[in-house]
Amino acid sequence: MSKEVEEEITSVLHENRLFKPASDFSKQAHIKSRAAYTRLYKKAEKDPEGFWGDLAKSELHWFKPWKKVLHWKPPFAKWFVGGTTNVAYNCLDRHLEGPRKNKAAIIWEGERGDSRTLTYQDLHREVSKFSNVLKSKGVKKGDRVAIYMPMIPELAIAMLACARIGATHSIIFGGFSAAALRDRINDAEAKLVVTADGGYRKGGVITLKDKVDEALEEAPSVESMIVVKRTENDVVMKVGRDFWWTDLMKGASADCKATALDSEHPLFILYTSGTTGKPKGVVHTTGGYLLSATVTSKWIFDLKEEDTYWCTADIGWVTGHSYIIYGMLSNGVSSLMYEGVPTYPDPGRFWEIIEKYRVNIFYTAPTAIRALSKLGKQWPKKYDLSSLRLLGTVGEPINPEAWMWYHKVIGGGKCPIVDTWWQTETGAIMLSPLPGAIATKPGSATLPFPGISADVVNKAGKSVPANVGGYLVITRPWPSMLRTVWRNPKRYKETYWSDIPGVYFSGDGARKDKDGYFWIMGRVDDVMNVSGHRLGTMEVESALVSHAKVSEAAVVGAPDEIKGTAIFAFVTLESGQTANDALKKTLKTHVTKEIGAIARPDQIRFTDNLPKTRSGKIMRRLLRDIAAGRESIGDTSTLEDYTVLAKLRDDDEA
Ligand code: WT7
Repeated sequence: MSKEVEEEITSVLHENRLFKPASDFSKQAHIKSRAAYTRLYKKAEKDPEGFWGDLAKSELHWFKPWKKVLHWKPPFAKWFVGGTTNVAYNCLDRHLEGPRKNKAAIIWEGERGDSRTLTYQDLHREVSKFSNVLKSKGVKKGDRVAIYMPMIPELAIAMLACARIGATHSIIFGGFSAAALRDRINDAEAKLVVTADGGYRKGGVITLKDKVDEALEEAPSVESMIVVKRTENDVVMKVGRDFWWTDLMKGASADCKATALDSEHPLFILYTSGTTGKPKGVVHTTGGYLLSATVTSKWIFDLKEEDTYWCTADIGWVTGHSYIIYGMLSNGVSSLMYEGVPTYPDPGRFWEIIEKYRVNIFYTAPTAIRALSKLGKQWPKKYDLSSLRLLGTVGEPINPEAWMWYHKVIGGGKCPIVDTWWQTETGAIMLSPLPGAIATKPGSATLPFPGISADVVNKAGKSVPANVGGYLVITRPWPSMLRTVWRNPKRYKETYWSDIPGVYFSGDGARKDKDGYFWIMGRVDDVMNVSGHRLGTMEVESALVSHAKVSEAAVVGAPDEIKGTAIFAFVTLESGQTANDALKKTLKTHVTKEIGAIARPDQIRFTDNLPKTRSGKIMRRLLRDIAAGRESIGDTSTLEDYTVLAKLRDDDEA
């Protein structure tokens, strides 16, 4: 963190509205009052291991009990040491003994209106069969399986099958390019890939199998590929390597015992952007991850047996891992899974699905709320949304206007809103209201979950006073914390545990108000949050400079009404190249090919020079000001060449 960053943490938002939980909601909630929350919080603070240990006993099934709740050798943690369990067993088998056996586990809605429901028994059978399929292809405990799929039930089946036999899954979001897929497969050295011919999106087909084919040209670890038929587009099957899902499932036995796995066995790797060009493989393990996912799901979404719950995230992101699949199925809930986008075939699609399935709990991203609110109330008004009782948001700060629209138009003024702050690394929600207990303020993620010690500190690690901006840190280990960066413990230590002494640094700026409520102010590192998805500026820069005509690039985020952050690229060309609109288009397409459509720059501005310090460091703060159309107010005394700034501002054609 530089001085530049410290200067930027000035807090501007002041929101004073307070929404108390309605008494009829509180009465039926798991955590019924502020006092109950405080009791839990204090209990956990006094004896964190006792608190988490009791919950691990009451909420999860263990094959063998642990000997020690926590082994902490900073910054490396082991939770429930010596215990064995299985995530798929907890999500499936344990529900088959009672009335949940024939309850819907996954209610799936395709983009084109087709639908499927899998009961817990159905899902258990399919997962057991696919576990045997994986074994028949040589997948063993500890092997990595890459999953690159559309939002169809087979994705859930594949991940749960990995969990069942102790294979570590690495799910790669279907919007990533072949190049991004290849890098992730190689970093994890995956043995097998599960994919589909394609998926439906906005009425068209996104092809997937062909991208895997391309990735596998340079991914020697992969021995086989299993392909689900979804879109019927033409694919080429390589004999001996590629197999159709249905062919393999036909002969598979439905008998496969869940393997007893060490609590610290790696459940999954999920790649996320950081401040270098290379994404980090965040590693989550078994017992601790599942415990946090299970308890946060139950208390924050206030899950009840009869609820239909819908999270609109893609399972390719951590939100889908924890709050479509693991946390929900562990609680025996009916979890809705939707294949498509919010606005296809029309902007009423989300609301139509809520009406169709009588959804009770709805969890989505601020970017979707902003986009849908812009399209007008007439769309939600066409549907009966009265089944909703609780709303949630995640991924980025929600602006108070969007919060109020969500509250009034979608929630009919009666649903609590849980604004949940967390990260790929934290595995589960860290800051959030408990809906029956905590009064909410639009735009604040409110208070830490019981058992989570969060603070806002300065660079020296000292708490800052109320309403002063600082760094958001977690001061004690928690069960679902990332254990390491895949095969790179050094990067783990340096990224999260070095900037501020002794604590986990999230990379976010925040402030606490006088009531102790947290207000997230966004990333303070070179990471952007585009439509609720994290993207490193360095990644986009590396993609740009990999183009032959580009000599140098600097990428910054610019405020955007819908996406939260838009991607703004300043590009210096190799000498002799001409800057024009055609080249802008080419470069945008190039980035899409290198990373995926989520990384496509919204704006490109060509420049002969970038503003740099005398030591050659690009002054991003100045570029952010230019991208946002602001006057620079900060210090420019270290700028090497003052004329660069003036030239950048003059260019108004972007
Ligand atoms: C970053 C993590 C974990 C879910 C999806 C994103 C931002 C997340 C909030 C929130 C303000 C939020 C932070 C965080 N973020 N939730 N409720 N309010 N900001 O996961 O890709 O790992 O990104 O998303 O900046 O660091 P991710």
